[in-house]
Amino acid sequence: MGLNTKVNVKELLGRFLPKQTVFAAVDYGTRSIKTASVSTAGPRPMLLQLSRVAQPVTVGDEPGLDARVNLLAEAIELAGMKNQEVIATLGADKVITRHLQLPLMPEKELAAAVSFEAEKLIPVPLSDLIVRYVKLGETEGGEGKQQEVLLAAVPLDVVHGFYELFVQAGVTITALDLQPLALWRALSGVVGSPGSPPDEVSAIVDIGAVNTTLIVVHQGALLFWRSLAVGGDLLTKSMAEAYGISFEEAQTLKEESGKVLSTEEAAEVISPEEMQLDFSLRDGLGEVVREIRRSLDFYAGTKGARSVERIVLSGGGSNLQGFALFLADALGIPSKIGALPVDIPPGAGDEMPYQDPAMFMSVGLALREAGVRSIQK
Ligand SMILES: Nc1ncnc2c1ncn2[C@@H]1O[C@H](COP(=O)(O)OP(=O)(O)OP(=O)(O)O)[C@@H](O)[C@H]1O
Ligand SMILES: [Mg+2]
Repeated sequence: MGLNTKVNVKELLGRFLPKQTVFAAVDYGTRSIKTASVSTAGPRPMLLQLSRVAQPVTVGDEPGLDARVNLLAEAIELAGMKNQEVIATLGADKVITRHLQLPLMPEKELAAAVSFEAEKLIPVPLSDLIVRYVKLGETEGGEGKQQEVLLAAVPLDVVHGFYELFVQAGVTITALDLQPLALWRALSGVVGSPGSPPDEVSAIVDIGAVNTTLIVVHQGALLFWRSLAVGGDLLTKSMAEAYGISFEEAQTLKEESGKVLSTEEAAEVISPEEMQLDFSLRDGLGEVVREIRRSLDFYAGTKGARSVERIVLSGGGSNLQGFALFLADALGIPSKIGALPVDIPPGAGDEMPYQDPAMFMSVGLALREAGVRSIQK
């Protein structure tokens, strides 16, 4: 058999095998590795597994490859995902994303147009990058109908290194997904719930340890996204400085007792300890809120922007007590922690931290193959 007639066994088998309905995902975060598995067999996705392993807090040097492989292998073991195929995502700081507006054109021409734009926008030779694009929707622009395209580019060596890390830890990456898209699936209302996605314009904000991902959605359409270089680590640092303690100690103190006071609470008489805790968080908090506000202002300045009516929170950073209220106060927009569009196996609710916003991104990744409701126009 010549090379040209080589049969793609997987594709061939795919025609006969039942459709895959269980999907596993790994969110390799800076502070912890999160894993999720969902079944998409039913009308609403069912969460099958959710777990997490903390990353070591290192001062100075990054942990070596062996240490990283071992920890990932531990997370995979815990999730029961060994030898499986998983959906993963690269840290937001490793992916270059751009929002393009292009005239409508056939698929073939679009690929060429995207490459052309990528070359103009990204200061790295295209041969060193993997470039992909996602079509988001169509808009009526001044020059007729336009299509909104999300362009993503990642350095080849970063992808290879990441893939290799996962192989050594015992799983194969079948898809590398983007955090804004995972967030959109998890919390915009396009997956799972009956009826149409909410009519309100929402900003969905995932606050991680070092990165914050912000998207703006309306009726299920993704209108805007931004990756911000801020997160919970800034709060930990400002506490460490205020109390003169290590990063690790500050992180524990923050997670166990940290609380930010709303304007009303701050005006009431509270204990000196609470006051001091609140005060020690303010520097880091200020920076996070400032970046979120700046992004929203930037969005508000784009053509056809709508006013954001509510904030939906995700990411471990949003677990800080009082944070949602504080943010709502600061931005003048109602804010609350989101909820996943999935069912929980009966009786499993207590073991699965499905209400912990730190887990939302991993579920959004696992929902990659879940049916997405068509977007209203
Ligand atoms: N109860 C809590 N109170 C305050 N902060 C918390 C709490 N729980 C978690 N955090 C903070 O959330 C952050 C970790 O969130 P998350 O797990 O979403 O980040 P990550 O995905 O590992 O990081 P990144 O997305 O930046 O790579 C840390 O800064 C952590 O201290
Ligand atoms: Mg994260």
